[in-house]
Amino acid sequence: MTRTPVNVTVTGAAGQIGYALLFRIASGQLLGADVPVKLRLLEIPQGMKAAEGTAMELDDCAFPLLKGIDIFDDPNAGFEGANVALLVGARPRTKGMERGDLLSANGGIFKPQGKAINDHAADDIKVLVVGNPANTNALIAQAAAPDVPAERFTAMTRLDHNRAISQLAAKTGADVTDIKRLTIWGNHSATQYPDIFHAEIAGKNAAEVVNDELWLADTFIPTVAKRGAAIIEARGASSAASAANAAIDHVHTWVNGTAAGDWTSMGIPSDGSYGVPEGIISSFPVTTKDGKYEIVQGLDINEFSRARIDASVAELVEERDAVRELGLI
Ligand code: NAD
Ligand code: LMR
Repeated sequence: MTRTPVNVTVTGAAGQIGYALLFRIASGQLLGADVPVKLRLLEIPQGMKAAEGTAMELDDCAFPLLKGIDIFDDPNAGFEGANVALLVGARPRTKGMERGDLLSANGGIFKPQGKAINDHAADDIKVLVVGNPANTNALIAQAAAPDVPAERFTAMTRLDHNRAISQLAAKTGADVTDIKRLTIWGNHSATQYPDIFHAEIAGKNAAEVVNDELWLADTFIPTVAKRGAAIIEARGASSAASAANAAIDHVHTWVNGTAAGDWTSMGIPSDGSYGVPEGIISSFPVTTKDGKYEIVQGLDINEFSRARIDASVAELVEERDAVRELGLI
């Protein structure tokens, strides 16, 4: 049976993450090796020519699953019929820019894109926001799309999740595949909290295996939380291939499910679980099945974790209040 292609819209398609992402989507790694895709690339007018170049390269790969590529600079057209939307393009912070300026500049991108998704995307649309500040950009887009179920808007903390697994594996000598049930809580920012108290390494409690609270507080957490800045310092540009990889992982897991006994981390609209105020887009431990996710419930949160979750959530509440004041939500 021939399957109908899935429409995948990627914004910021001509950027560095876009370049690392599009070929993997077209090769079947986003949705599955048997799922044909049509790509819809959304750029701003200045990015159109470079996006056309990337589209030429995609053609030149003759990917069996790629059933079409269209390029747009109009969000209404770009999101027409989209089943999956990866919102990568964002306004980066530039010198002298205050946080309010950054939120306001991104509001100018994510509010119209949310509205375009509301008005033009397919009924089963799933949205992943990668562009920073990812959680609050997702909130802005979600608020502009009242006809789309709020839970379809998610923000990326999978890169943080993968970074934490890698750091934990290096510390303990375990294989990354032995590490399960790690959680990123809160914001995709330096306040995020990578939690190993419920994580397992080859079936044993990770915090007990590590047994080193000093390493946890002074090395592990800051290394994971500040990894983005360390990459910028080393590369002279923000993470791109690892960010694209995490975007692939996020959507693949959302669509295809978490493995039995494991969970992942996603920035999602809070339902009030774990004392996180309802509505803000915060990272939680989630399981996924049949294209839906659920927050893992009933985890015991110790004092060490509580203080750190609360600090990151407080930052998200501040960001929400700031965009509310700016009239963006
Ligand atoms: P980049 O500057 O290389 O590319 C961004 C692209 O977006 C550019 O081509 C630009 O023309 C385009 N763009 C800007 N406004 C747009 C709009 N309104 N519609 C469509 N396209 C638009 O940046 P990059 O390295 O690809 O990073 C993209 C974003 O991802 C940044 O905000 C970065 O901070 C963020 N990021 C997030 C994570 C995460 O873990 N959540 C990780 C890495 C990077
Ligand atoms: C990352 O985590 O690598 C990025 O979010 C860093 C950034 O500021 O773009």
